Amino acid sequence: MRLILLGAPGAGKGTQAAFICKQFGIPQISTGDMLRAAVKAGTPLGQQADAVMKSGGLVSDDLIIALVKERIDQPDCAAGFLFDGFPRTIPQADAMKAAGVKLDYVLEIDVPFDAIIERMSGRRSHPASGRTYHVKFNPPKVEGKDDETGEPLVQRDDDREETVKKRLDVYSAQTRPLVDYYSQWAATGDAKAPRYRRIEGMGSVDDITRRALAALSS
Ligand code: AP5
Ligand code: ZN
Repeated sequence: MRLILLGAPGAGKGTQAAFICKQFGIPQISTGDMLRAAVKAGTPLGQQADAVMKSGGLVSDDLIIALVKERIDQPDCAAGFLFDGFPRTIPQADAMKAAGVKLDYVLEIDVPFDAIIERMSGRRSHPASGRTYHVKFNPPKVEGKDDETGEPLVQRDDDREETVKKRLDVYSAQTRPLVDYYSQWAATGDAKAPRYRRIEGMGSVDDITRRALAALSS
C-alpha cells in the first residue's frame, strides 16, 4: 500500500497515520516530523528549515523532494509507505509523477478551519515517536506524559494562534490545489493515477479511523 494523506494542518493526518500504518505494516513518512528531527539535531537542513517552520511558511520544494526521494529508497519502503504532509505543493506532486512513484490512494481528511484552531491549541506531541495527543479530545493516560514511554510531551513551536492562521492561509494557497490535481487525475481513468477518497474528519478519532480504513478498501 502506497498512499498520501492529504488535509489541512490539524486535520488529523498524524493521528490517523499511526493507525493506518499499523494496519498495513508500512512506515509513516511525515516530512514535518523529519524536519523537526533535523531542527533538533541541528543539521544543515534543520538550520535552513527552522525559521521557515516557526513562521508557518513552507520549506523549499528542492530540499523536501530530495529528502523524500532519499527516504523512499530505504529498504523499509519497499512494500509501501504513507506520506503525511507531503506532497504539499504542485511541484512536489509533479516531482513524484516524474520519478514514476506509483501511488494507490490519495485520502483526504476534511475538517473545517474553525475546528482546526481548537485542535492545534490543545495539541501535545511526543517528538521521538511522532505520537500526538490533545488535552481535551485525545488526552494521554497520564497528564503531560507519553503513553508508551512516559517521556514528557511538548507543545509545537508553530501551534501559536497567529502561526496557525498563517499555516491555514499557506494551505489554501499552495496545498489545497492538490485536491483538484489528484481528484481530476483519478477521474481521467489513467491506470497510473491513484484512487481519490475523501472522508469527513469531524467525529471521534476511532470513527475517523474506521472511515479511513473503509475508504482504503474500496
Ligand atoms: P507538518 O508537521 O506536516 O504540519 P501540518 O500539515 O501543519 O499538520 P499538523 O501536523 O499540524 O496536523 P495533522 O493533520 O498531522 O494533525 P494531528 O494528527 O497532529 O508540517 C509542519 C511544517 O513543516 C510546515 O508548516 C512546513 O513549514 C514544514 N513542512 C512539512 N512538510 C513540508 C513539505 N512537504 N513541504 C514544505 N514544507 C513542509 O492532529 C491535530 C490535533 O488534533 C492533535 O492535538 C490531535 O490530538 C487532535 N485530533 C486529531 N483527531 C481528532 C479528532 N477526530 N477530534 C478531535 N481532535 C482530534
Ligand atoms: Zn502532523
